[in-house]
Amino acid sequence: MPKAVLRHLTQRNPCMVRGEGVYLFDAEGKRYLDGASGSSLVCNLGHGEAAVAEAIARQAGTLAYNPFHCSHSEAYLELAERLVRIAPPGFGRVFAVSSGSEAVENCLKFSRQAHLACGEPGRHQVIGRWQSYHGNTLGALACGGHTGRRRKHLPQLAAGVHIPPAFCYRCPFEKTHPACGLLCARALETAIRQLGAENVAAFIAEPVVGAALGAVPAPPGYFELVRVICTRYGVHFIADEVMCGLGRTGRPFAIDHWEVTPDLIATGKGLGAGYFPMAACLIAEALAADVERRGAAFEGVHTCCGHLLGSRVGCLMLERLVERRLAENAARQGARLLAGLQEIARRRTSIGDVRGLGLMAGVEFVRDRKTREPYPPGLRFAERVMDACLERGLIVFPGHGTVEGVAGDHLLLGPPLVIGEQEVDELLSILEEALAFVEGDPEVAAFSR
Ligand SMILES: Cc1ncc(COP(=O)(O)O)c(C=O)c1O
Repeated sequence: MPKAVLRHLTQRNPCMVRGEGVYLFDAEGKRYLDGASGSSLVCNLGHGEAAVAEAIARQAGTLAYNPFHCSHSEAYLELAERLVRIAPPGFGRVFAVSSGSEAVENCLKFSRQAHLACGEPGRHQVIGRWQSYHGNTLGALACGGHTGRRRKHLPQLAAGVHIPPAFCYRCPFEKTHPACGLLCARALETAIRQLGAENVAAFIAEPVVGAALGAVPAPPGYFELVRVICTRYGVHFIADEVMCGLGRTGRPFAIDHWEVTPDLIATGKGLGAGYFPMAACLIAEALAADVERRGAAFEGVHTCCGHLLGSRVGCLMLERLVERRLAENAARQGARLLAGLQEIARRRTSIGDVRGLGLMAGVEFVRDRKTREPYPPGLRFAERVMDACLERGLIVFPGHGTVEGVAGDHLLLGPPLVIGEQEVDELLSILEEALAFVEGDPEVAAFSR
């Protein structure tokens, strides 16, 4: 590994040189099925799409850079229109940026500025949830609840409040849905009352929790209750769809699975589909109009806001999402993937839970299925599975922290939205073989019950 590389990967990590559809190829010509769309559910269109490369080249040859705070550009206007067309009803404005973290930061800033414009200067607190992830910049890290990623930066993070996650497999209230009465959503109302609604700007949540929990959708009724509570107390509801949005869960946005309209949506990853860094904040028209009526304008800018190459990629991605019915494919192939994972869970001892929505699937590992006790963190069970998968030609996304943010292993699976049946079956068969190998390792078997 050259010295210039800051993040050390093991010698066993391959050097990828080419991508085609759902496959990547390394320098030795070995083929890998990309079960995580480029490590963190990004490459929704698959790899090596010539049409995307051509669109980028055409735009670069015409007009590459003209940020929207200078003047209008066709590619950006088209992107904004296409996003609004697939957004939940009532969404009318788009502020495009270059990463999911920036999208989250700008949602937080919009919320704060809107409260200021509306004469409520006290509203500044953001309520998030434990075991969530909203990005790695300091504002996003602060409202996120990813214990591992926050730890080193705690003194730099703005004070905020986190409520328990909506996580039925390990319910923080030790209840069962629906008899629980959605205590996890009611915790939001308690937090708002404790802080004083006049101090609370927004509540932020991932409709399907990605990296922090491994594809955990909130239970039915959760976001409907969140919406009622937010409206009651004048708090903005921000849906973080950076990972779960844009067709991944089988609908245009994951929040479409609930009967709910947020005030702001952060989206990213799949928007640039790995071909260009692209993300966006979507803002409810009523909220934006209210701010404008009061003579205020949103102050927030980055050098590469709404970059035209990214806008062009985003347009093509959204065109394909609609015309090639990629969300429908995600729903269909996702159902096959989840059914296959359930089958594997019946045969293998280390899987405690299988969950997900569409092509965002999670597998949680336990050493004891009855007690749901996790493997010791030092065993690095998820990494072992990742290594065994890589060896056999499959890329997966391992994660930790399902138990109070500090223990527990999971895998996140999210292949490109263009995946077909045979490729889903191939993914499942490699994963099962890798799991059998890991479970059979004497170091692991010593801990299994
Ligand atoms: C839900 C969610 N929000 C925000 C982010 C941050 O996005 P980025 O890494 O593009 O800054 C991520 C990244 O994994 C994410 O999963």
